[in-house]
Amino acid sequence: MGEGAGGIMASGGTICTITALVTARHQRGLDGQQACLYASADCHNSLAKALRVMGLPAAALRLVSTDDAGRLDPHRLDQSLEKETDPILAVVATAGTTVRGAVDPIGPIADICHRRGLWLHVDGAIGAVCGLGGQRHQELVAHMGCADSLTINPQKWLGIAKASAMVLLRQPQALADTFAAPLAYMEPARGVHGGDCGLQGTRPAEVLKLWLGLRHLGQQGIDELLDGALQRAQTLRQALAPLPLAMPSGNLHIVCFRPRTAGSSEAWSRHTREQLLDQGLMLSRPRYRGQHYLKAVLGNPFTGMQQIAALVDTISASLSS
Ligand SMILES: Cc1ncc(COP(=O)(O)O)c(C=O)c1O
Repeated sequence: MGEGAGGIMASGGTICTITALVTARHQRGLDGQQACLYASADCHNSLAKALRVMGLPAAALRLVSTDDAGRLDPHRLDQSLEKETDPILAVVATAGTTVRGAVDPIGPIADICHRRGLWLHVDGAIGAVCGLGGQRHQELVAHMGCADSLTINPQKWLGIAKASAMVLLRQPQALADTFAAPLAYMEPARGVHGGDCGLQGTRPAEVLKLWLGLRHLGQQGIDELLDGALQRAQTLRQALAPLPLAMPSGNLHIVCFRPRTAGSSEAWSRHTREQLLDQGLMLSRPRYRGQHYLKAVLGNPFTGMQQIAALVDTISASLSS
């Protein structure tokens, strides 16, 4: 994001994104005005929460359709922005969508934002940690550094104890410009006061935990964690591929699936999830585009071939019963 980039730790990705979007609105001179926000149809609900915090209606979130791989379609985005009549507070690209782990095409989206003079926030709560890995991992989130603001959640994939989330800004001074409200009972700070940067005043030294965690892992440890998760996801996808499943996964460490048969997958996903839980295998059950899915997140380095094989056996049996 450039030499001068910086930011703050906050308690989770949601608070980071809210902080970034409140900052974007202030920087664009849109406080108190009707303004809108653009993101993919698969964006996280923290954007809806951000609008509520800002006193904006739910309809201010303009959802842009995705391509077959679950990535925001930049062409559609550009067309929609062209027709927009309300002021736009930001465009959000997601680096790792919640249900399928898709990464929006950040480069083309950044070009559009640059051309139109719009603030780009990247919600990298899931995928931005790939930027800390080697080149092959960085390529998964290419051009993420073009963002004006970025949410990154090392608690999700790198095993840093919760809460560990950070919002980074190309121009971190924007945080104090947005949030500073001088305290009558405190001496003015020599530089920028941490309590002026963001929503939280008093807060724990989360950054120390993150720093120690990253030092402990080292570059090799980070690469191994990322590789291991990506490899396990690939192994699971390959093992499930012969089964009659719809599997709308992206290319990170998340695998999401449901029976390909017509009809509802509500009962199937509920029963199968119970059977998996009985074996100590925890999958979540998102509702996505009108259907229930099972979703495996392969981030845990202690998930081995044995668990993956048990998972595949249970899914296979559930489809033939
Ligand atoms: C894409 C995305 N953004 C933001 C968040 C919110 O993160 P948190 O739960 O730390 O607030 C999540 C959580 O799963 C997410 O998947």
